Amino acid sequence: MKALITGITGFAGSHLAEYLLARGDVEIYGTYRARSRMDHIAHIADRIRLVECELQDREAVEKMIAQIKPEHIYHLAAQSFVPASWSFPAETLMNNIVSQLNIFEAVRMADIPCKIQVACSSEEYGLVYPDELPVQETNPLRPQSPYAVSKIAQDFLGYQYFQSYGLSIVRTRTFNHTGPRRGERFVTSNFAKQIAQIELGLQPPHVYVGNLQARRDFTDVRDVVKAYWLALERGVPGSVYNISSGSTRTIQEVLDTLLSFTSAPVQILVDPKRLRPSDVEVLLGDATAFCEQTGWKPEIPFHQTMRDLLQYWRDT
Ligand code: GDD
Repeated sequence: MKALITGITGFAGSHLAEYLLARGDVEIYGTYRARSRMDHIAHIADRIRLVECELQDREAVEKMIAQIKPEHIYHLAAQSFVPASWSFPAETLMNNIVSQLNIFEAVRMADIPCKIQVACSSEEYGLVYPDELPVQETNPLRPQSPYAVSKIAQDFLGYQYFQSYGLSIVRTRTFNHTGPRRGERFVTSNFAKQIAQIELGLQPPHVYVGNLQARRDFTDVRDVVKAYWLALERGVPGSVYNISSGSTRTIQEVLDTLLSFTSAPVQILVDPKRLRPSDVEVLLGDATAFCEQTGWKPEIPFHQTMRDLLQYWRDT
């Protein structure tokens, strides 16, 4: 079975590649760009096939898909950092929407039997009212950032290409996920890296933070990539599924958990640059539909994820 992972050099992409390798029955292809960092996949580079491809280049994508003829596509490549979407809204929309359109068109042109997983996001729900929790797939989408709008476009294009052309597309609305290799701009990694640097004496004992009142539903990335596999193996094409743990914690609790693993005394300082024009205040997902359809359930406890993440930064 041939699987193509876009964004294989990234956080979720590298974990998915590891998971598929461990299965032993999957030939893994992955796209990267000239500027991609290779450190997340260096340890498996000899067991995967890497293809340089700019996903915004329609011709390059058509050629790549026609050559590989993948049976699964996991479309994980994206501009995924919410604050960057305020600094570069046009780039975020172009990158996330055009890349996916090129993949859909290339699969359509190649006329190959291929299942496509589209990495959508809980950010699409945006403003959620207390009586709407936990959020189901039918909840209204009230985006709070250009990034969220780009993910709604990806989501709806997935629906439209299924309806119009019968492409076998499964959309996953994944809530926050973290673990080793999480990019350092994202909150869990950012705090863990700061703590590790303080322990090593590389940073004064100040942890800089943004909005600690926001609540998020965290799943370990190693559970999330299993969900992506199951989405294509057992999910119903045309459907959209929440992928979430079903529990929520404040960012303050995330910080407190990480601090409980260190003896370094620290002072918490709010950095106004880390506050957003509009932050999503609470996300808590209902993944019942996905769990019932596929048998998936998250297995790695939050404390374990946080321990592993802090250890990752101590070792990096
Ligand atoms: N990044 C960051 N840095 N966030 C902070 C900080 C900080 O120092 N302090 C507080 N926060 C708060 C943010 O305001 C936000 O409410 C929350 O921590 C999580 O921020 P991120 O880790 O940047 O993630 P996100 O929730 O904006 O988006 C992530 O999850 C989405 C799924 O819901 C990303 O992974 C997206 O790509 C993904 O779609």
